[in-house]
Amino acid sequence: MPTALPPLKFRRWRRDLVWLLGAVALEWYASARGNWSEHYSRFAQRYEDWQLDEWPLTLLMLSLGLCWFAWRRMGELREALAEHMAAEQRISELLEQNQHLARQLIGVQEEERRAIARELHDEFGQGCTAIRIEARLLAQNGAPDAVRQGAQRIGHHAEHLYRLVRERLTRLRPHSLDSLGLEAALQELCEGWEDQTGIACRVQAELPAQALDDAVAVTLFRLVQEGLTNIARHARASEAQVSLQAGNWPQQPLSLRIEDNGCGLPGAAPPSGGFGLAGMRERVAALQGQWRLDRGTAGGVRIQVLLPAEARA
Ligand SMILES: Nc1ncnc2c1ncn2[C@@H]1O[C@H](COP(=O)(O)OP(=O)(O)O)[C@@H](O)[C@H]1O
Ligand SMILES: [Mg+2]
Repeated sequence: MPTALPPLKFRRWRRDLVWLLGAVALEWYASARGNWSEHYSRFAQRYEDWQLDEWPLTLLMLSLGLCWFAWRRMGELREALAEHMAAEQRISELLEQNQHLARQLIGVQEEERRAIARELHDEFGQGCTAIRIEARLLAQNGAPDAVRQGAQRIGHHAEHLYRLVRERLTRLRPHSLDSLGLEAALQELCEGWEDQTGIACRVQAELPAQALDDAVAVTLFRLVQEGLTNIARHARASEAQVSLQAGNWPQQPLSLRIEDNGCGLPGAAPPSGGFGLAGMRERVAALQGQWRLDRGTAGGVRIQVLLPAEARA
């Protein structure tokens, strides 16, 4: 229950009061000029059986009663309004908490990915390299053919595993994001994606002079990553475009657009059920941004994201 009722603010009461007093004065003037009460008295006396002469007082009582009734309802309305405002306040607090938690969760997730990527790189990469060296030595030292061939196969498998892990490492935490920055990481991501899928990908990035915060950069990278994955999986497109406009950030919101020329969404309503789009939406909401999915100019899907300056906080 709310404790304090909001103060009443009547903005148009003066104008209404003038109208009310004007109407009463007009009625009094017309009544005085036309002797309405005297006419009414004479009329009421003719119908004494109906007690018509008592009606003015009764109507006065009814008016006072209605005033009292309206006053009571207004009190109830104020209470309902206060409850509504308290609920709204609570909702906005919970929303803020939710955004804070989502942001923390994403931060922890990214840190965990970074740690796994580091460990995989150090342990697995070195292990694979050692196996490849050993296999090469085995194959060189005049060993029997069977051993040499086996050693070569081991070397190939180790090489294959190493490539696989390197590719996974890039997905887990792209090295270029830390070393070269967002623009280079996006270029690298799109070039790799183009090679893998055979779909043309154009990247256009305008970044601010100062480096973007890690949370913002990682969010943008993951959004593009998921957007491109969806295009490869669902769009049947021949071209994808990624455009990042952040030249005036944080003075102006940062905008990201991912668009394809594919078949578009399967239904009229935005799809639900998949984790990819939901994850994108959550990442954007965690940075208090806006996320929109609609039909692009080329007929495919267009995802537009706006991140405000508060995304840095
Ligand atoms: N670029 C796209 N072109 C066509 N359909 C898409 C595109 N992106 C998403 N979709 C549709 O939206 C659905 C939900 O996507 P998502 O949440 O990423 O889940 P998932 O990729 O696991 O199916 C997809 O199943 C697909 O039907
Ligand atoms: Mg997906």
